[in-house]
Amino acid sequence: MRNSVYDCVILPLSKIHNRAGNITIVEGEKNIPFNVKRIYYLYDIPGGEDRGGHAHKELQQLIVAASGSFNVLLDDGTNKKIVTLNRPDYGVMVVPGIWRELFEFSSGAICLVLASHRYDQADYIRKYDQFIGFRNRLINHQES
Ligand code: TYD
Repeated sequence: MRNSVYDCVILPLSKIHNRAGNITIVEGEKNIPFNVKRIYYLYDIPGGEDRGGHAHKELQQLIVAASGSFNVLLDDGTNKKIVTLNRPDYGVMVVPGIWRELFEFSSGAICLVLASHRYDQADYIRKYDQFIGFRNRLINHQES
């Protein structure tokens, strides 16, 4: 399947509010379209630093600004879009085959990532020209 940046939707998450604060719950295959096999989070990100800069062949992810804010550049080789995440009750779904870069982290930002698979180095595409080659192979495969 050839995914596009338009498949990378912003998902509103549940938020239960009471006087002692808020809680957001994410259940795999219920609030998000995949089962969660792995969670990781980025924090203590020095000002001006960028993260990401890769694509995944199979991995699906939900990215949430659990604290603070940052931008996510999404790129399917044809179209790009930039999403600002700045609320813990919203996330962006990153479908497979999308190049992503995370940048402009606010001070104290926490980037929470829910992932559909365990860590697999072989699932990464870390060079942009290889990503474009991967996307072109998908297009050729679909047209043949
Ligand atoms: P990396 O994916 O390069 O971070 P980012 O794309 O956010 O800049 O990962 C940084 C390091 O952490 C790298 O050495 C691989 C390791 N890592 C794991 O061991 N397991 C994981 O689940 C993740 C996401 C990273």
